[in-house]
Amino acid sequence: MKIRDLVAWGRKEVGDLREVYWIISGELGVPLQEVYLLDEIGDKEEERVRRAINLRERGIPLSYIMGVVEFCGLEFSVREGVFTPRRDTETLVEFAREVLPGKKERVLDLCCGVGNIGLSLSCLSGVDVVGVDILPRSIELSSQNAVRLGVRERAEFIREDIFSYLKRVQDKFSLIVSNPPYIPAEERHLLPPEVISEPEVCWNGGEGGMEFYPGIISEGIEKISAPGYIILEVGEKQAEEVRTLLEEAGLQETGIKRDAGQRERVVWGKKT
Ligand SMILES: C[S@@+](CC[C@H](N)C(=O)[O-])C[C@H]1O[C@@H](n2cnc3c(N)ncnc32)[C@H](O)[C@@H]1O
Repeated sequence: MKIRDLVAWGRKEVGDLREVYWIISGELGVPLQEVYLLDEIGDKEEERVRRAINLRERGIPLSYIMGVVEFCGLEFSVREGVFTPRRDTETLVEFAREVLPGKKERVLDLCCGVGNIGLSLSCLSGVDVVGVDILPRSIELSSQNAVRLGVRERAEFIREDIFSYLKRVQDKFSLIVSNPPYIPAEERHLLPPEVISEPEVCWNGGEGGMEFYPGIISEGIEKISAPGYIILEVGEKQAEEVRTLLEEAGLQETGIKRDAGQRERVVWGKKT
């Protein structure tokens, strides 16, 4: 089939020309800039591309189809059944990098998903990272990503409930970072297909989306060495409430940072 006909069909199905080119590039294993040079492809390749475009049209996240996502300029493997890293979360990494005192630090990434926050800090700031997540597949992908990014010796990933981990661990960290599930359970019916296709444990933050923050703060505070920070991603209208929790727990110099879309996205407090 002629590539230009396949592209025209794909564009009608998914509505975004760039996504069509990314899918073709991923499915054929051809660099993106070379897709434009292709003229025809065989039946088998055409079938693969059509299947991928049909999945996208049904709302399956592009990252699941491609098996990889870019975060902080680094490539992370993802698969169905895990949380796909979002651009908004880069705001948390940016802030964490600003306050990290030095390279020899240890960072705890709670609810680590595919390891994107902790591993970005390890790659970009040279720190050691421990990541904890309840999903076996998240831990499998986090470990693969550590190898892929060349920081395996600086990263450890543990499959466990974060609250049982925080209760049992004796170690201290310079930073605790977390992007926990924070979508209010009562907003389930408003969610777009991309979010719904991710496991509920990845996004459901219980009533008001606030179920995780009190425990992370009250248990986490014992695990940071002073001076150190707890840095949390939050959802819509949660920033002030989380900031109050941090202040009530005795943390100082609390603050809120907005993401590129001007939404309050990251909240932190310092143990002095
Ligand atoms: C919003 S995702 C964040 C993933 C990743 N940190 C990121 O920023 O892209 C939340 C993650 O929390 C994990 N999770 C949910 N409940 C958990 C719990 N009780 N203990 C550990 N991990 C949990 C989910 O499996 C999911 O990977």
